[in-house]
Amino acid sequence: MKTLVVLSGAGISAESGLKTFRDSDGLWENHNIYEVATPEAWNKNPVLVQKFYNARRQQLASVLPNNAHLTLAKLEKDFQLCVITQNIDDLHERAGSSNILHLHGELCVGKSSKVDAHYKNLGYADINMGDKAADGSQLRPHVVWFGEPVPALEDAARLMLKADVVLIIGTSLQVYPANTLLMYANTNTLTYVIDPQDVGLENIPLNATHIKETAVAGIKIFEKHLYEKFK
Ligand SMILES: NC(=O)c1ccc[n+]([C@@H]2O[C@H](COP(=O)([O-])OP(=O)(O)OC[C@H]3O[C@@H](n4cnc5c(N)ncnc54)[C@H](O)[C@@H]3O)[C@@H](O)[C@H]2O)c1
Repeated sequence: MKTLVVLSGAGISAESGLKTFRDSDGLWENHNIYEVATPEAWNKNPVLVQKFYNARRQQLASVLPNNAHLTLAKLEKDFQLCVITQNIDDLHERAGSSNILHLHGELCVGKSSKVDAHYKNLGYADINMGDKAADGSQLRPHVVWFGEPVPALEDAARLMLKADVVLIIGTSLQVYPANTLLMYANTNTLTYVIDPQDVGLENIPLNATHIKETAVAGIKIFEKHLYEKFK
């Protein structure tokens, strides 16, 4: 079986009803990301940060995976498929993908605010100020904020090394260090991009095929290419 490595971003979940932030003038659901997605924001106003992620979790409970998530899960029957996602939503899981690496954490999980440990499954429930992790510290969202290390990066780089095919879907490739992962793929790896816009071209191999469509329309074209190539 050929190995297909997918690098997904907020755009894959847009047609499920979750907004990206590059498409909203650098705002994430009307918030400047530096007010809600940095350690400084947490130190300055933890109540606002909790409220923001509680709202994202509630919103997530009300949306469904779309055909792009579902098609990727279906491709597992013919490909060794790994999804590396920058998304904190659980739509790849709910679509049925079984091999998912969350680079930037998971909305449905809380963790200690002292150390990178003591995780707690939340489902879609809120975190309240006063809710404690196992080490007694305030529970915070298990989200990698801007300026924090990305512990899953090495595992993701190892997956890229094994790829026969790479699919980049719904990511502007603006967020460091996720946008450096492509350099680990072999130079002759078959690479596809699905995104209605031009994306960080400096990070993409010259021979990449850009399917300039939304995720749901683009995934059909990609699937056809894939089976034509490897039938
Ligand atoms: N669903 C989520 O989990 C979610 C949502 C917003 C932001 N975030 C976080 O914000 C960061 C944003 O970086 P990013 O590169 O993932 O997103 P981004 O917002 O920087 O870029 C989104 C990309 O998706 C494309 N896009 C928009 N609509 C699309 C569609 N229908 N189909 C396909 N592509 C579409 C845009 O053209 C753009 O290139 C990530 O780290 C992520 O953790 C997550």
